[in-house]
Amino acid sequence: MRYQGREVDIEGRVRLVMESALTARDRVGVQDFVLLENYNSEAAFIENLRRRFGENLIYTYIGSVLVSVNPYKELEIYSKQQMERYRGVSFYEISPHIYALSDNTYRAMRTERKDQCILISGESGAGKTEASKKILLYYAVTCPTNDQMPALGECLLQSNPVLEAFGNAKTFRNDNSSRFGKYMDVQFDFRGAPVGGHILNYLLEKSRVIHQNHGERNFHIFYQLLDGGEDDLLTTLGLERNPQSYQYLVKGNCPRLSSVSDKNNWKVVMKALSVIGFTEEEVQKLLNIIASVLHLGNTQFGEGEEGETYITTETKITSLTKLLGVDGSALGEALTHKKLTAKGEEMITPLSFEQAVSARDALAKAVYGRTFTWLVEKINQSLALKEEIYHSGKGCSVIGLLDIYGFEVLQHNSFEQFCINYCNEKLQQLFIELTLRSEQEEYETEGIAWETVQYFDNKIICDLIEEKHKGIISILDEECLRPGETCDVSFLEKLEDTLGGHPHFVTHKLANGKTRRVMSREEFRLLHYAGEVNYNVNGFLDKNNDLLNRNLKEVMCQSDNQILSHCFRKEEAIDQKRPEMAATQFKNSLTKLMEILMSKEPSYVRCIKPNDAKQPGRFDEVLVRHQVKYLGLMENLRVRRAGFAYRRRFEAFLQRYKPLCPETWPNWHGRLSDGVSTLVNHLGYKAEEYKLGRSKIFIRFPKTLFNTEDALEAKRPDIALTLQTSWRGYRERAKYQRIRRAVIVIQSGWRGMKARRRAKRRRQAAELIRRLIKGFIYRHEEFCPENEYFHDHVRYSFLKNLRKNLPKSVLDKSWPTPPPSLIEASDHLRRLHMRNMVAKYCHRVQPEWKKQMMQKVVASEIFKDEKDSYPQGVGRLFLDSRLEREQINLKVVQTLGSDKVQYGVTVVKYDRRGFKPRPRQLLLTNTFAVLVDRTKIKQRIDYAALRGISVSSLSDGMFVLHMPNEDNKQKGDVVLHCHHVIEVVTKLSMMASKVNYVNISPGSIRFVVARGKEGFIDFVRGSELKVAKGKRGHLLVTAPQINSA
Ligand SMILES: Nc1ncnc2c1ncn2[C@@H]1O[C@H](COP(=O)(O)OP(=O)(O)OP(=O)(O)O)[C@@H](O)[C@H]1O
Ligand SMILES: [Mg+2]
Repeated sequence: MRYQGREVDIEGRVRLVMESALTARDRVGVQDFVLLENYNSEAAFIENLRRRFGENLIYTYIGSVLVSVNPYKELEIYSKQQMERYRGVSFYEISPHIYALSDNTYRAMRTERKDQCILISGESGAGKTEASKKILLYYAVTCPTNDQMPALGECLLQSNPVLEAFGNAKTFRNDNSSRFGKYMDVQFDFRGAPVGGHILNYLLEKSRVIHQNHGERNFHIFYQLLDGGEDDLLTTLGLERNPQSYQYLVKGNCPRLSSVSDKNNWKVVMKALSVIGFTEEEVQKLLNIIASVLHLGNTQFGEGEEGETYITTETKITSLTKLLGVDGSALGEALTHKKLTAKGEEMITPLSFEQAVSARDALAKAVYGRTFTWLVEKINQSLALKEEIYHSGKGCSVIGLLDIYGFEVLQHNSFEQFCINYCNEKLQQLFIELTLRSEQEEYETEGIAWETVQYFDNKIICDLIEEKHKGIISILDEECLRPGETCDVSFLEKLEDTLGGHPHFVTHKLANGKTRRVMSREEFRLLHYAGEVNYNVNGFLDKNNDLLNRNLKEVMCQSDNQILSHCFRKEEAIDQKRPEMAATQFKNSLTKLMEILMSKEPSYVRCIKPNDAKQPGRFDEVLVRHQVKYLGLMENLRVRRAGFAYRRRFEAFLQRYKPLCPETWPNWHGRLSDGVSTLVNHLGYKAEEYKLGRSKIFIRFPKTLFNTEDALEAKRPDIALTLQTSWRGYRERAKYQRIRRAVIVIQSGWRGMKARRRAKRRRQAAELIRRLIKGFIYRHEEFCPENEYFHDHVRYSFLKNLRKNLPKSVLDKSWPTPPPSLIEASDHLRRLHMRNMVAKYCHRVQPEWKKQMMQKVVASEIFKDEKDSYPQGVGRLFLDSRLEREQINLKVVQTLGSDKVQYGVTVVKYDRRGFKPRPRQLLLTNTFAVLVDRTKIKQRIDYAALRGISVSSLSDGMFVLHMPNEDNKQKGDVVLHCHHVIEVVTKLSMMASKVNYVNISPGSIRFVVARGKEGFIDFVRGSELKVAKGKRGHLLVTAPQINSA
């Protein structure tokens, strides 16, 4: 992320560096002439153009007018990226460009919903057609497309190569000179997508079909056909590949162009025709006509002996007639004869040689000219706004593009130049009117006092040319129609008569000596707004008449070539009324054009040609000065500067310069005009330097603006820093806010969840408590739903508690008190647990220990609760023997033999009589016990014979072994005392299997002395153990009191 950030940063910096380099470059001179300090100086104007041209900056503004200088080389400024750069950007924010103008016009059309037009003017070769193509391309690329007319943009673009092939030619001034005027409407739908187009064409230079000046060519299409057409096609058309074979192509002696490839262009044109929607048949018919013009040019005439004219190239006329689709003989006849109607009668008179030649040429011009018009109509059909869009109810807006011949001054100027220059006068008139009008309107709407601007109003020249009855065109028409001998010279004389004394009209006769020297007698001079032009009257009448013999028209009407039959209407041949003269036709079409343009919001592109050599990098000052003059650019600048050099809407001005004043920076919250006023006061503008309108500030001198710009430039690092700081602050704050919001969301989510959990727990707890209480209340009832849970809980709690508090050892008798319902189960469990503990215990018990245990158990069975000393001895272990092996005399062991001593203990034997104590060892074997006095076995007691064993219930160690008394041999019972009485008695009784024979007497023991006599041992409790003779010969044993605690 950080890395990315750095990348963005680097990219941003690079862009900034590049942009500043660009703007630095753009800052060469001024981008807008309005900002020229010395705006009255033509030299300063041209110097600015020159400096910018030197840096390939070919575009400069005069206010909203774009001045373009032909670079004569491809510049890298027309790419798609450049289009994007200018898209939607305000006119003044970015360096001047044709795209800026295009975009501005487009946006004005969309936002203001007003039709627009772009007027492109300039002299031949200045780049008008190129400019119009760039504009069209900009719209085709950047505008959205209409679903119903997706290919319209392409059609609009493709109309150019077709019209150029048929209407452009190489001239002395331009290798691709448009020889007709063109006005093109592009219609846009409500979404701004181009949906239709319409072209109006003006005054094709038809004379070029039959004649070209030296170094010039006929229209491109002828050369393209001959160079690019396939062999088969040329054969069908009866053509040779060599242009030199055709009279109409040899006049200029310039068959090839170095700058363009006719062959490639042929392919382009053919493709364009199919894109536009020409059928193959239509293309074929079109080419037939083009070929027929060439054939017509090669039709030669001869003069007969009687002065009649005949066709010398009769053999070639067949292919011509085939191509034209007319009757051969009728055509031959029409080319050499004229049909006249006099007093209602038709007469056919032969033509002279010259008349036949001019009839042929007239036919060639008419055929070509009308075909060109058909071509434009045909293109219009495919560009036409489709019905469904037209009727969709959502109004279309239009941008018109006028690419029309510029002011033309040649060595020899003829009728064509007259028309062209007249057209430019009209456009200038429109320009002045619209510019001044809009300027004036702006001052009015802004409430600024308007100072009248002195400018040259060319109405006087327009009137001179077009005024009814008195204008040159009227006089020309009159002269053409006048019966009797008329010629070009008589026309000139008529002009002199009528217009003599007019300040803008001079002839050789009317001129002073100085002017006379540069004028011929056949010329008249017009002082156009752009300069003086001498027109040679030769050919004026013919060209104005533009007559085609009626019988030629009739032949052409019969043509089976649909294009020609469409171009030459039958009605025309029948109609006796004379058609309008060429100049009048032109005047009328211009009037219509002016109406069209007046109804639209105009933008201007003024093209300038930097040199005549068509070379890049050359800037011919004289040539440029001339154009600056006749394009009226200085005048344009003066008008623009008459009031104020610079104007800008309050918001735009404030937005740009607000950093220069602490009160307006960073934001002005009051009224805009107050903000601007505060700003300019802070900047120290003097009262005469500016005026505030209703929505705009007007600055009179460029210097004021430049100073402000410089101040802004100096302030920029500070602004950048402030912007950077606040941007960073903003970004961090936004980040912090984002995190904070996220934290709050997480927090509230978490808290909500916790609260919900807690609430749930509480609910469950409350429920539980309720159930428990209820259960408690019903606890004594039968098992029912109310107490079910309570009982379960009690049981569960008991079991859980039990689990924790189970006795750890078998001796631990504790056991939790069970609830009544679990008493039985509790007992079971207790037993189970005990058993389990016992089982575990037993598993762990060793054999010795087991033996010990068994003995202890037996001891317990015998003595428990019977003898006082028992509890004391429980914890003491029984030993295997109380005598060590060495303590038993060897002799005794030997005497015992195989009966091993299992247990030995020291005892005291009391004599049965006298109770004399004698120390003895009591040894137990498996089958008998012996009493041993040191080395001697004193008495053997067979277990089988043992009748019983008696002990007292007190804590003494006395025990009596009862022997059988039937046998007299027996000595009687044995009275013994031992400190380990319980151990000895237990072991003995076990070994002798006489456990049940142990008798515990509480007060006294009776024993048998030999031969049936008996003795007694009495037991009493005392402080210490004492064995003594008591009363009546009893043995009295005092057993110590055992403290049970
Ligand atoms: N912006 C441009 N960039 C590059 N070359 C240009 C540009 N404008 C014009 N040219 C060059 O100048 C030549 C003449 O331009 P263009 O045909 O537009 O002149 P024009 O004003 O239409 O002349 P005419 O009145 O004879 O028709 C073009 O063929 C082209 O080579
Ligand atoms: Mg052109």
